[in-house]
Amino acid sequence: MTERDCLTQFKEARLGMFIHWGLYSRLGRGEWVMCRDRIPHEEYARLADEFSPRFFDPDRWCGVAKNAGMGYMVMTTRHHDGFALFDSAASDFTSAKTAANRDFVLEYVEACRRNNMKVGLYYSLGDWRFGIPKESDSPEKAKAMVEQAHAQVRELMTNYGKIDILWYDGGWAYPSIIDHGPDDVKNFWRAEELNGMVRELQPNIVINDRSGTPEDFGTPENEISVPAVGRAWEVCMTMGGGANSFWGWLPRDPLAKTTGQLIGALTKAASLGGNFLLNVSPDGDGMIPEWQLERLERIGEWMRANGESIYGVGPSEMTRDVNGQTGSSSGICGDKGDTIYHYMYLWPGKKAIVPFVKGDVVDVTLLATGKQLEFERDSAGRLLISGLPLNPPDPNCSVMKIVISD
Ligand code: GLC
Repeated sequence: MTERDCLTQFKEARLGMFIHWGLYSRLGRGEWVMCRDRIPHEEYARLADEFSPRFFDPDRWCGVAKNAGMGYMVMTTRHHDGFALFDSAASDFTSAKTAANRDFVLEYVEACRRNNMKVGLYYSLGDWRFGIPKESDSPEKAKAMVEQAHAQVRELMTNYGKIDILWYDGGWAYPSIIDHGPDDVKNFWRAEELNGMVRELQPNIVINDRSGTPEDFGTPENEISVPAVGRAWEVCMTMGGGANSFWGWLPRDPLAKTTGQLIGALTKAASLGGNFLLNVSPDGDGMIPEWQLERLERIGEWMRANGESIYGVGPSEMTRDVNGQTGSSSGICGDKGDTIYHYMYLWPGKKAIVPFVKGDVVDVTLLATGKQLEFERDSAGRLLISGLPLNPPDPNCSVMKIVISD
């Protein structure tokens, strides 16, 4: 398999589960709690003495992901707090050497394989124990942090068989001895050397862009924007509504995104040709909170009815107007071959208008029900569609499928 094939496979999977899980998950105040609450390192490290999750069950996580139409998983093997969920010769601050006495990465990787899910490993290069950004400037500490990152990435790429995705983060989290900037990050982490090693150990891996070099795909966070034309990308998103510091466990979130908002984001990403990595935040025992499971269940239902409008879809050229708009006042469109998918968030009632359809339309249906719809062109070239039900088949987003003759 070539590198190109693995990027294609990654894009085809389209939808993945992000898992933020670590020591911070015991506290329920997000994964930035150590930094935000200025918890001294020694006090924070004591969390490891009681980190012994009773319900860590990555098969269950995979099952939940699969049911939601996801094809890959990305788990935090180590976040900015520096606590590794794997056995490491480069650090004692790991789940294998503290109370849990387990290599969670190993268990997770094995579960992914059993469940036929692509295996993604998140790794934070930065480690707050060596300095919180802008608060420490010891070159010795900085060097030790880089050495540790190289050693641990090597372990992750060596000890767990084939890894499909390497998801770096926290490249900015170094002491302030250098200014932030793409080349500084690259140079600071010796990213070319690091990624050279990764590709040698894992020739079929895809790597994200957060180590300072562009690698295979871009990673817009919590907002859907296409990073660069022609590049693969994946938007990662929390189910919570707060700022991006809440990827780790929160018992509840009054600002949580609705299922409608999440499906809106998923369809928008697909309509622009991007992957969607949706985050869950298991608690300290390994349980994904109810409010997140419920949203995933709803997304799964939606995907079973409308999934063909997500996988393999890219930007709509067949409905694009001169201003770059697609679709209609009801929503946006994405194309796959000769098919246009119209994601309708606002239901128009029994009749719909799609103004910019290019080409000869041969068939219009509602994806969820298969209902065939009547259509005609008016003198202005608009596609007039009738025979829709008064109420939408799906309260969040109903998809109309428009087939063009080639
Ligand atoms: C940011 C945050 C981090 C989160 C990540 C997800 O870099 O620091 O907490 O893991 O984004 O994309």
